[in-house]
Amino acid sequence: MHANPSKALHPLSDIAAAPPDPILGLSDAFKADTNPDKVNLSVGVFQDETGKSPVLECVKRAEERLLANESTKSYMPISGDPAYGRHVARLVFGEETADSGRVATIHAPGGTGALRVAGDFVRHLLGPRRVWLSDPTWPNHPGIFRAAHLETEVYPYFDAAANAVAFEAMREKLDHLPEGDVVVLHGCCHNPSGADLTPEQWRALADTLRARSLLPLVDFAYQGFGDGLDPDAASVRALVEAGLDILVSSSFSKNFGLYRERVGALSVVTESPDATARVLSQLKAVIRTNYSNPPAHGGSIVTAILDDPELTELWKEELSAMQSRIAGTRKAFVEGLKDAGAVRDFSFLERQKGMFSFSGLDRGQVDRLREEHSIYIVGSGRINVAGITPANLEYLCKAIVSVL
Ligand code: LMR
Repeated sequence: MHANPSKALHPLSDIAAAPPDPILGLSDAFKADTNPDKVNLSVGVFQDETGKSPVLECVKRAEERLLANESTKSYMPISGDPAYGRHVARLVFGEETADSGRVATIHAPGGTGALRVAGDFVRHLLGPRRVWLSDPTWPNHPGIFRAAHLETEVYPYFDAAANAVAFEAMREKLDHLPEGDVVVLHGCCHNPSGADLTPEQWRALADTLRARSLLPLVDFAYQGFGDGLDPDAASVRALVEAGLDILVSSSFSKNFGLYRERVGALSVVTESPDATARVLSQLKAVIRTNYSNPPAHGGSIVTAILDDPELTELWKEELSAMQSRIAGTRKAFVEGLKDAGAVRDFSFLERQKGMFSFSGLDRGQVDRLREEHSIYIVGSGRINVAGITPANLEYLCKAIVSVL
């Protein structure tokens, strides 16, 4: 007999509410805000000059073909369409490595899904070990790995005073980690700081990881938003060249604009085709008890585009246009802040890569921007530069200067 029959009947009544998500929760608050001047610089979604996040033209054309030609809605293989996997591996590693037999790629529901598969794989197959995250990092990273029952810790990454990567401190820390721990690295366009390692630093980092037998897990969600598809992949490729086993999570939310289709991938490189095949079999076992097999649509779009040279060309043009708009916006933002009377030197914003910038605004300033001006920025002071448009630039810059 239960002491309290009502409690036994309603085991869900005492569940406490979870706090809103630090990023996606802000989008809900933004939607509910009735101020016509409101500006959303929180979630990392690309917006064009008019503040819209349109479907890419290459995606529209690929979808037309899929609609005309799709012949079944039967299940996907657990690891996804092999053609998709091949395309992703080539984008990330280049043809030679992708075709070496040492790479396996599974289609995951978004970059988040890929990271969770990686976390589950590490926990189940390698056992308990710590996962090291950059300080700062994407606020969802700790939660993903903790959900996989892995302990997380941080390594120094960003020097706020210098507005640059604290590379020596980072290396020094990694140099003293226990063998076998996992190090999560941002392949390019570091989220949230926008500060990346140089190619030389990636090579030096590879030496450290090798010397300590650490396992790199690269979160590669912004390929093409930094310096271009291949230059951005120099990070991952430096680790592969150093002969490290490596896990890479890709996302096609940003570079194909496929956010809501949840399309991503997890790739693994090992020292031999045989080891890779065994790892792949275990990844499949992990996936089977999670989401069984991936949703097809997003991956089919990416495959249709990369299967066709004309659509691939169109995609590269559209990706490059998104990247250029962000670079141009960074410039306009720095000038806008100066014109609005900012005394602080914000020129570092122009040197940061990708969608995000660490503005240097503190929690109090971020709160005031939201409460007094309906400007939504992540609590860490991270700004989604792609949310700045010619129409909101002046309003934004004046508001920022008013809270400095
Ligand atoms: C972001 O950092 O804003 C994006 O990666 C979207 C997300 O899921 O948080």
